[in-house]
This record gives sequence, structure tokens and C-alpha cells, in this order.
Amino acid sequence: MLKQLKSICEIALKDIEECQEIKQLNELRVKYLGKKGPIQEAMKMMKDLDTEARKELGLVSNETKFTISTAIENKQKELENLVIEEQLKNDFIDVTLPSRKRALGQAHLTNQIITEIEDLFIGMGYSIAEGPEIETDHYNFEMLNLPKGHPARDMQDSFYITEELLLRTHTSPVQARTMLKQGGKGPVKIICPGKVYRRDDDDATHSHQFFQIEGLVIDKNITMSDLKGTLEYFVKKIFGENREIRFRPSFFPFTEPSVEVDVTCAKCSGSGCSMCKNSGYIEILGAGMVHPDVLKMGGFDPEVYQGFAFGMGPERIAILKYGIDDIRQFYTNDLRFNNQFNLK
Ligand code: DAH
Repeated sequence: MLKQLKSICEIALKDIEECQEIKQLNELRVKYLGKKGPIQEAMKMMKDLDTEARKELGLVSNETKFTISTAIENKQKELENLVIEEQLKNDFIDVTLPSRKRALGQAHLTNQIITEIEDLFIGMGYSIAEGPEIETDHYNFEMLNLPKGHPARDMQDSFYITEELLLRTHTSPVQARTMLKQGGKGPVKIICPGKVYRRDDDDATHSHQFFQIEGLVIDKNITMSDLKGTLEYFVKKIFGENREIRFRPSFFPFTEPSVEVDVTCAKCSGSGCSMCKNSGYIEILGAGMVHPDVLKMGGFDPEVYQGFAFGMGPERIAILKYGIDDIRQFYTNDLRFNNQFNLK
């Protein structure tokens, strides 16, 4: 029996040595160490032996079992390593391969034009102010000289949330908020870009939500020529050095005097054509000298301080600059439209 075990051990070790696959190794494990394997069989015979022989057979069987299972364990590790090595070989990444091209995104035209206008005014010493899109009636209207029931409120059909809360109809309330923050002390020099909302039916020239950029300057000795010089500089930088502006009298409750600002037509340079309805000019923004009552409500002494303000629609500026024919293009996110404007 002992001899038999020895030769079984030799054969098993040879089988294990030659084994190439984990599956095959598992079969060998069952074959030699399993319940029906030769070692178990030898153990069964022990009950018929005398004490000495039983002891010896027990010892040899255990040794054989240990030798075979150690060999199997070592082989298992060896085969597993081989599998990993094989995988690593297959997973090899060729870092010298050229990469796939990815489509690069870009800022939306609205953001591009707002950034361009911001940069221009920052260059003139302005800072950027912000205000809430959900605004109180107080800031949106009353602080701007539009008390409840004022007929000029009809110019801006509004989305009311409650009696006192609405989606701001313009960025002008940021004027009032900025003035109050200043505590009656100049100078103030801000622009405020942001979204505004009007109860309008959307069509080629109207949108219920659009952008505005508000401007406000307050200091001692500010005159209308400061306003004109600033806007002239702005227009020439945005539309080109050959463009001129003109002021047309208008009315806004928060400015006195108030003006509409026109720029010479891109197509006819002022001589009159179908684009500018033969006027030679196209309207671009509203502006004026800050009304003394608005200065007062904002905590400034109108005897000491004067100011000018303006409000423009960046979409309108882009429409005129790039000849866009429909404001809805800004909101429908057609990539064929968006991708035409990669200005940076
Ligand atoms: N808030 C005005 C509007 O939405 C635009 C405007 C006009 C703003 C004149 C101004 C201004 O600051 O001085 O129609």
C-alpha cells in the first residue's frame, strides 16, 4: 500500500506538472484528493491494519495529500498568472495611435456678445452688477419713478407672481439696488447683464424672455455729452469705426431727458434704404440722464450728483451686427445656427 501511494504521488505530481489549464487542474484535484481518490481509498483500508502499520499508513497518506495539494496550489497560482499575463498582452494600449477627433463646444452667441460688451465696458472702468430675476414691484417699477397705476407700466407687460412679486421686465431695477448699496456716495459705474421677461407673443422680433444690459454712471459733473461719448465709443467698437450715432428725444420715466439711440444703417451708411425704412438709421438702445427723483429715491442728492443710464438688448445688437433675421434663433438651439458664430 505504501509503495502504491508513493507511485500515485509520483504520477500525480507528473500530471500536475504537465497540466496546462485551470479546468484540467480542478479535475486532477478531484481525481487525487477527492472522496473517491486513491488517498481516501488507502485511508479506508486503515481499519484492517494493526496499530503500527495504521500509524505508518496514516503518516504516509497525510504526507502524500500534503505534497499533492501543495503542488496543485502552486500550479494554480502559476496558471492564474499566465492568464493575467495573457490578458495584459491583449489589453496593450498603443499610446502612439492618433486620437479620435472630438467636436469642441463653444459659447452661445448670446454669451459671446455679452462677454464682448462686458469686456468693452470693463475697459472703460465699469464693474459688473447683478440683481434677482424675481423682482419686487418696488424695485422693478416704483424706485424707477413708475408708481402703481402709472400709464408707462403698460409699455412692459409683466409676468406677476403675486401682487408684489414679478419676473423683472428690465434690468433697470439693478440701478436702484446699486444706488442704495452705495449709500449716497459716488462714483457709480456699472453695467448689469441679465435675463428679463415680458408677456409677449413670440415672433421674429419678440420673445417673452430675452437679455438686457443696463448701464449706470453717477458722479459729480456728469453731463449728456458723457453719455454720448460713451455710447459713440461703444458703437464704433462693436459695429465699426465708420458708424455714427444720433440721439432722438424719447420718454422713460426714470430718465430726464430721455433718448432713443440710433446707429447709421449698416447697408446704406445713412443715405436710406429698405433695411432702415429710408431713415438711414436703426434704433439700438434707450438712454438718458438719471431722473432727479430716481437719484433721490436711491439715496443720492441730485444737487450734487448727476448720472446717465442706458439699457440695450444684446440679442438686438447681435441681430444688427450679424444680420440675423429672427430672434427665436437665439433660443431654438439649432447647432447649424450656433456653430456659425465662433468669434474667439
Ligand atoms: N428699461 C428700459 C426698457 O426696458 C430700457 C432703458 C431705457 C434703460 C433708458 C435705461 C434707460 O437705463 O436710461 O425698455
